[in-house]
Amino acid sequence: MNRGIVPGTFDPVTSGHLDIIERASSLFDDVVVGVALSPEKNGGPLFSPEERVALIESATAHLSNVSVRAFDTLLVDFAEEVGASVIVKGLRAMTDFEREFQMAALNWRLDSKVETMFIMAIPEYMYLSSSAVKEIAAHGGAVRGLVPDVVCDALSRKLRFAR
Ligand code: PNS
Repeated sequence: MNRGIVPGTFDPVTSGHLDIIERASSLFDDVVVGVALSPEKNGGPLFSPEERVALIESATAHLSNVSVRAFDTLLVDFAEEVGASVIVKGLRAMTDFEREFQMAALNWRLDSKVETMFIMAIPEYMYLSSSAVKEIAAHGGAVRGLVPDVVCDALSRKLRFAR
């Protein structure tokens, strides 16, 4: 079984994340999306781990070889727990590179049996991030298309005036 893991905070999952998950699902027998709890990041996530998992499950319902799980351990330990040998990460603009390079190097240092693979974001999603989506939505801007529809509705409920 050739299993990949797509990790992230996913607060919330964006169309860019979904594109990476879809492309990973066509490269591996199956894919586990790992939702990191990350309680301390940017003053805490907007969506709870359960909400983030449920949103990704809805957005990936059309992908039969994708499952979603929350984790609160080192990524390499989670990869071993679920039996995945490849970490798949999306790479957007050059600004991602430094941080991703560091994480890939440290993960390799922690467990060299787990490989990290990068999939380039398509140009449309190069500058898309969960933080930007939340900022736009919080100010009442339109985020439809930037996130799966189910996330659009969830943001609308959470932030009241998101469109
Ligand atoms: O959505 P993000 O911020 O790109 O995801 C970062 C994530 C969740 C992949 C990273 O923070 C992570 O792997 N967290 C788990 C803890 C861990 O293993 N840290 C060491 C990695 S160098």
